[in-house]
Amino acid sequence: MSSKAQIAVSYDLSNEFFRMWLDERMNYTCAVFDEGPHGRTDSLELAQTNKLAILHDYARIEPGMSVLDIGCGWGANLQYLAADRGVRDVHGITLSEAQHAEILRRRLPRVTASVTDYRDYAPPVKFDALMSICMLEHTATPAQVRAGEHIGVYRDYFRRAHEWTRPGAWFALQTILRNAVPRNRKDIEDMAHITYTMFPGGFAVRLAEVMEACNRYWEVVEVKTRRMDYLRTCEHWLQRLRSHGPRIRGRFGDGVFRDFERYLAACVTAFDKNYVSLAQYSLRRI
Ligand SMILES: C[S@@+](CC[C@H](N)C(=O)[O-])C[C@H]1O[C@@H](n2cnc3c(N)ncnc32)[C@H](O)[C@@H]1O
Repeated sequence: MSSKAQIAVSYDLSNEFFRMWLDERMNYTCAVFDEGPHGRTDSLELAQTNKLAILHDYARIEPGMSVLDIGCGWGANLQYLAADRGVRDVHGITLSEAQHAEILRRRLPRVTASVTDYRDYAPPVKFDALMSICMLEHTATPAQVRAGEHIGVYRDYFRRAHEWTRPGAWFALQTILRNAVPRNRKDIEDMAHITYTMFPGGFAVRLAEVMEACNRYWEVVEVKTRRMDYLRTCEHWLQRLRSHGPRIRGRFGDGVFRDFERYLAACVTAFDKNYVSLAQYSLRRI
């Protein structure tokens, strides 16, 4: 699992920095450009709302419910659920202090959040629905994947999620998928840059392994892959990052700009060549 110090490498650099190139609400995950309430769009803002709406529906969320978002980032989904969809009780957990500070800064009504490792989390009440948007990738380390221990780690995550919910709950899950393996040196090095420099302690998952791991606790009702949507999302982020290049270099240094530019450009290639993809799952509690 990514430790708290490793999570700080990925997310605690500066909220101001991420605000420069993410969408307004600071979703740091795949947007959806061809489906959802805004339909086909080129706007990152609208496409992120499409994504949140699709996952809201995957989790069968109603306004009277209590909902947990595991790995809630800077609170984009918490804000969407409470402010746009009028959900009664929304809670998020993140391992990042900077993200938590941003959520508090937003003063969102009916939203609470805590800096908690999911393995230590013990909610006082059971939730009606769950969401987790690109957090599973942080649960098993590359070493655990190599040792074949990762499916057990995912299974433990799904067991906990099951424990935290009431009978009848639904779970909207989104994960990055590890598909093909790069064969040329540049792509191998760029993938290593993403994995070991940008997201230390984490590793993308395989679809078959998620299915196997959740099987005892959650029934997979729908799965949709969105490789090209993530490619487009990364193109938006890269373009926004570059448009703020001089400011980012001046404020955070050339090294930071170079690392993020290399990582986002490598993501565009990785989605293009199917080294990675994106999956959204609608899961029903067993
Ligand atoms: C790629 S970000 C996604 C954030 C958000 N869901 C979004 O869509 O923008 C991954 C999130 O998982 C959280 N996370 C990683 N490991 C965690 C752990 N062990 N316990 C709780 N949250 C964790 C990080 O702090 C971060 O908020």
